[in-house]
Amino acid sequence: MLIAHLTDTHIVRPGMLFAGRFDTLAALDRAVARLAALRPRPDLLVVSGDLAEDGTPEVYALIAERLARTGLPLLAVPGNHDAREPMATALPAATRMDADGFLHAFKALGDLAVIGVDTLVEGASHGELCEKRLAALEATMRATAGQERLIVMHHPPFATGLAAMDAIGLRRGTAELAALLAAHPGTQAILCGHVHRSIQASLAGVPIRLAPSASHAIALDLDPAAPYRFVHEPAQFMLHHWRRGEGVVSHVAFVDDHPAL
Ligand SMILES: [Fe+2]
Repeated sequence: MLIAHLTDTHIVRPGMLFAGRFDTLAALDRAVARLAALRPRPDLLVVSGDLAEDGTPEVYALIAERLARTGLPLLAVPGNHDAREPMATALPAATRMDADGFLHAFKALGDLAVIGVDTLVEGASHGELCEKRLAALEATMRATAGQERLIVMHHPPFATGLAAMDAIGLRRGTAELAALLAAHPGTQAILCGHVHRSIQASLAGVPIRLAPSASHAIALDLDPAAPYRFVHEPAQFMLHHWRRGEGVVSHVAFVDDHPAL
């Protein structure tokens, strides 16, 4: 199975620039054209949160229309900038709101289970896996016992070393998630976003693939005093190739061709 992975598109209203200088809608249009042209065709497009910066129904309608142009089945989880209700309304096939109002997601790709987990804390930038969300994830893991799985979540379950991002990282549930992974073997990778950089890590022996943004990046600065700072870097996405029994091979891809040197 081939899974395309887009993240942190931060779409604002048409004609607006994110942070006054990034045309995120134009960046999404380029990414969508690239994804639509991919051969072989991915079996699924995963979007790991912060689809919208401006979480209005109008902006989600734009996002849904753009993502539909890829022609790919879609799974999406919310990030800290997203709003659950309008996102769920615009992307009903990509999300699954549970009885507690969390916007999880699930797709079966043959015998691979792709499980989206909502880490959003409304009104906050950090993320959480609270008891209810951990219980929902555990139930899904029990229901997929014996299958291989991917877990998709916005906030990465590890400290990146980027101090300003770690300050708004996953504040609750990392140890419990590690325990779930150990108790229910079969998870092949955790796919996440939030940090706008390609970062690789692991939790309880499970690889974590943090995808770079298809728009703007956050500066790579490991100084503990470094501020939160956006930078222009080439727009990117990931392609994850899963084969049963062989884990996940992950590629980082650029949206645009590099200009000739
Ligand atoms: Fe985020």
